[in-house]
Amino acid sequence: MGKRKAGRDKAVKEQYEDFPYPPRNPEDERGRLITGSPSHLDEINHYIFAGKRDFSKPFRALIAGGGTGDAAIMLAQQFADRCPLGSVTYVDLSKASRAVVEERAKVRGLSNMVFHTGSLLELPQMGFEPFDYIDCCGVLHHLEDPEEGLKSLNSVLAEDGGMGLMVYATLGRVGVYHVQNALKTLVGNLPPKKQVQLAKKFVEDLPSTNWLVRNPFVGDHKMGEDAAFFDLLLHPRDRSYLVPEIVELLQSCNMELVTFLEPVKYDPAVFIKNKDLLKRVKELTSVEKAALAENVTGNQKTHIFYARPKGSEGSSIAKISQHMMPVLKDGNSPEMLAKTFKGQKNFSISFDNEQVSFVLPDRISEIVSLMDGDRKLSDIQKEMSLSWEGFRTLFGPTFKFLNSLNLLWLKQG
Ligand SMILES: C[S@@+](CC[C@H](N)C(=O)[O-])C[C@H]1O[C@@H](n2cnc3c(N)ncnc32)[C@H](O)[C@@H]1O
Repeated sequence: MGKRKAGRDKAVKEQYEDFPYPPRNPEDERGRLITGSPSHLDEINHYIFAGKRDFSKPFRALIAGGGTGDAAIMLAQQFADRCPLGSVTYVDLSKASRAVVEERAKVRGLSNMVFHTGSLLELPQMGFEPFDYIDCCGVLHHLEDPEEGLKSLNSVLAEDGGMGLMVYATLGRVGVYHVQNALKTLVGNLPPKKQVQLAKKFVEDLPSTNWLVRNPFVGDHKMGEDAAFFDLLLHPRDRSYLVPEIVELLQSCNMELVTFLEPVKYDPAVFIKNKDLLKRVKELTSVEKAALAENVTGNQKTHIFYARPKGSEGSSIAKISQHMMPVLKDGNSPEMLAKTFKGQKNFSISFDNEQVSFVLPDRISEIVSLMDGDRKLSDIQKEMSLSWEGFRTLFGPTFKFLNSLNLLWLKQG
């Protein structure tokens, strides 16, 4: 067992030396910043710090298993723009991946990052001060013992801090593990580049009955990138999770779930229409609802979620109040959203091939048109000539709708 583990540890490290993931060209930093979830600063503030974090104070972020640096670069850039004492610590096993992210940081002129090559399992011995926030995406599911990995992360997290995590989801990856197992038998003992070459031939000839061929949600192996192909189908070690397994993992590490993202994907009421069934849905706990939604939709390939140490006081999620300011996710201007919703009763959106339709909340167009990044909720209330209670009642459904799509967060104004 010990020997097999050591062999797989070595194979995982070798994979990411040969195929840094995801493939990124540092020169692209001149033209765009990749943003996403988790770990957008406004999202962290909303879900981990109840929207009240003061970013003029020092803020220590750890990106564990940071790969080629998407999250590390996003956060470091956001710190450079608005959190002058913020710092990003990057840790990864792969020197080749670190070289890519260091070059990306150089192109952007970022000086608020430090880099370490090593295993996140060694974090407790690395002598770091506690981190306010830890990002660990696409990593825990590659460890021999993910619980050991999460405990290691938790040991360097500040008591009032939180984590943004991503692990693979089971149902949307149907077929991936069948092909991985077949390829382990056929080419598992060959050098990585040779494995890719032969595995591509294998995949080309798969019969139409194969579950990967029948799974319309998985396409990374068709993108033409060897790194993506290897990561999906030749990985020496990965596993996937169902919602209850994530909750168990967190509990075993003395942590609790804050939220899954996007929240709408974990709301079964979006997908179940029958009124009697909906009544039964209402009686479920939030975790039971999330697990049900996963079983209903069947197309989730990853689970993205925020978590925090168990026993932390109160909720860490921002709440509607007069002092809060609505923050629209980058790329969504008030004008654009107001125009999209104006005069519409319904709104449709596609989640991984599934079209979902929502009834739009009252006066949503007018409300979003006032979310200019300067107005607090009390300012918007006054602008709409409503009492606070009247505004709160009106704003609740708009907030729930846009927040569930992960388009809207709150921060202290
Ligand atoms: C799939 S990539 C994800 C990269 C990045 N987090 C992202 O989401 O784009 C997984 C990364 O985890 C790193 N990794 C795997 N096991 C690790 C460990 N025990 N300690 C640190 N990094 C590890 C790999 O080297 C690789 O760069």
